[in-house]
Amino acid sequence: MSKKIVAPSLLAADFANLQRDIEMVNNSEADWFHLDVMDGVFVPNISFGMPVIKAIAKHANKILDTHLMIVDPDRYIKAFADLGVHHLTVHYEACTHLHRTLQAIKAEGMKAGVALNPHTPVNVLEDVIKDVDIALIMSVNPGFGGQSFIDNTYKKVKQLKEIIVKNNASTLIEIDGGVNIDNAKKLTDAGADVLVAGSFVFSSKDQLTTIKELKDTIS
Ligand code: DX5
Ligand code: ZN
Repeated sequence: MSKKIVAPSLLAADFANLQRDIEMVNNSEADWFHLDVMDGVFVPNISFGMPVIKAIAKHANKILDTHLMIVDPDRYIKAFADLGVHHLTVHYEACTHLHRTLQAIKAEGMKAGVALNPHTPVNVLEDVIKDVDIALIMSVNPGFGGQSFIDNTYKKVKQLKEIIVKNNASTLIEIDGGVNIDNAKKLTDAGADVLVAGSFVFSSKDQLTTIKELKDTIS
């Protein structure tokens, strides 16, 4: 069985102690850093952008998995590549020419991801699935950490897994929003490969142990 991945979301970190929280993730069993970029247009919130990611990249020693919740993401593909991020995930709902966007991300040497809002059915990815390295299923409405998990997600994971297998694609399924120790195993059993966890990790007392428990539950 393939290795399951945990990606703590820095959106829930203490921004006044960002280096400390990055070192915690560096020293943990987590696999990736998840970075949430919000523009206040695609989602009703603004998070952080290039200067902060530049600072994060200086200290982080794991994969930088970047989730763009922004309109017209094509404008910034090169800028994110220059920052050294490894994965760039755009929203299906924000891309008119998704196939072209995916190729542009890959041309800059990054893995290409597509995120789907809770209302977007997974079958919209069928015709590009071979070009998608990471399919991110939003299990909350994007824009904020700390929301509760939407149960319909399990069904979407199973349907997406079928599409991936049917097309002989190697797309990873990533779940983002409301992930915790109670739904983690059910998600990976349904076919998820990557679990993003923000508030569950950063609001816990012993963050290293929380990450380890998440990893142990799904491996
Ligand atoms: C929400 C972001 C998530 C968020 C998850 O729009 O995409 O990555 O940080 O936070 P939790 O795990 O607290 O739901
Ligand atoms: Zn995210």
